[in-house]
Amino acid sequence: MTTISPDLRTVRRPFPPGFAWGAATAAYQIEGAHAEDGRTPSIWDTFSHTPGKVANGDTGDTAVDHYHRFREDVRMMADLGLTSYRFSLSWPRIQPTGRGPAVERGLDFYRALTDELLANGITPAATLYHWDLPQELEDAGGWPQRETAYRFAEYAAIAAEALGDRIGTWITLNEPWCSAYLGYASGVHAPGRTDPGDSLRAAHHLNLGHGLAVGALRAALPATAQVAVSLNLHAVRPHSSHPDDLDAARRIEAVGNRVWTSPIFKGRYDDDLIADTAHLVDWDTLVQPGDLAEISRPLDLLGLNYYNPTLVSSAENAKNLPRHDGHGDSSHSPWPGADDVAFHLAPGEVTAMNWPIDPTGLSDSLIALHREFGLPLLVTENGAAFEDTVSEDGTVHDPERTAYIKGHLGAVADAITAGADVRGYYCWSLMDNFEWAYGYEKRFGLVHVDYDTLVRTPKTSARWYSEAIRRGGLA
Ligand code: FCB
Repeated sequence: MTTISPDLRTVRRPFPPGFAWGAATAAYQIEGAHAEDGRTPSIWDTFSHTPGKVANGDTGDTAVDHYHRFREDVRMMADLGLTSYRFSLSWPRIQPTGRGPAVERGLDFYRALTDELLANGITPAATLYHWDLPQELEDAGGWPQRETAYRFAEYAAIAAEALGDRIGTWITLNEPWCSAYLGYASGVHAPGRTDPGDSLRAAHHLNLGHGLAVGALRAALPATAQVAVSLNLHAVRPHSSHPDDLDAARRIEAVGNRVWTSPIFKGRYDDDLIADTAHLVDWDTLVQPGDLAEISRPLDLLGLNYYNPTLVSSAENAKNLPRHDGHGDSSHSPWPGADDVAFHLAPGEVTAMNWPIDPTGLSDSLIALHREFGLPLLVTENGAAFEDTVSEDGTVHDPERTAYIKGHLGAVADAITAGADVRGYYCWSLMDNFEWAYGYEKRFGLVHVDYDTLVRTPKTSARWYSEAIRRGGLA
């Protein structure tokens, strides 16, 4: 028997050649320039300007001014040694009203950004929809309306035709769970509506929009392009093995996870999901002939966004209990048809979002996705907010964030060792930014942003991540 020296045992570098070492952002969270070059309001402009919706009345009007500082930001990425950058395209910058021809100045911004990335050896990965629906489409009914799916596919075609020569990785939707359920059921995200039936209609039309967009992308992009979707699949854990708790977990897996993965990868909505939600929506009229074939067009990659596991049990009337699901307080649940499910805070340490820290949820999810669907995976988001403070020498020492990232990269390494084909890891986020309903209160960045001066300073976690990239993994 060979003995492995302790040193070698702790070196963990199963990351394959070409592994994408990245960081992620989203347009509304960083760009600012909200009324420049033809951009019109999205639902997030309207929502953030509505009193009481976002902490401190914060908006993305200026955000971190990436629109004007992108060259500096790309230089910063290059200094950190990132090999890939995931960002999103702003729909209202490219196609302001959500209909008709593109605005060239909007596309020019993304042409310049991607050229800058490529010139610095950084592979761009673009998300088409990170929640900024043009307001005019919301005024016409938003995602609960079928027409929105067709609008999305048209926008996808415009983006692919303009940028397909320089962007090789395309992600249709970011976390449709949030768009559907936080946007239309609990109302803590734009557009702030609270109708569970509409949230399920939105879910189906997001799926349909995804499928139609995959078709539009394939038609416009070179055959080498990789097309994906990014899902925040919940690592659901039952509180006990009591059958009622197991059923609570099943219900949350259905409405939280399988509502996306079954139509996308299996071309169907599961019977239990339909039964659990039949009192809220008529699935027979919602899902039209041909929809499931569109939605299940093959993908090249699946993106997983993971932050924390979800601990559930059954409860007679969970409406009266605090809901520790990590998704913001509302008297309306973001879980349509799951009023008897209670959400518990998992034991252990938490981040500034009160999200439990547990990297095993990431390895478990990656391994399960690999076994069930078999396609290559990307971790398209993972990271943590902490109460960062700037020390006298101007540095942000954030050992908690370093530990979080290290733990989760370890989980990715575990999943790869167990056979999962994981092709990349994108830390959320490159820099501090507009954290949706939390405004600028929660900082997720590897790089600190001073919101008065907009000066960027890498935190010690960024330095650690940079070293890890240079070594090709964990020491
Ligand atoms: C995800 C979002 C991302 C960011 C992180 C913290 O749900 O996709 O924009 O807000 O959470």
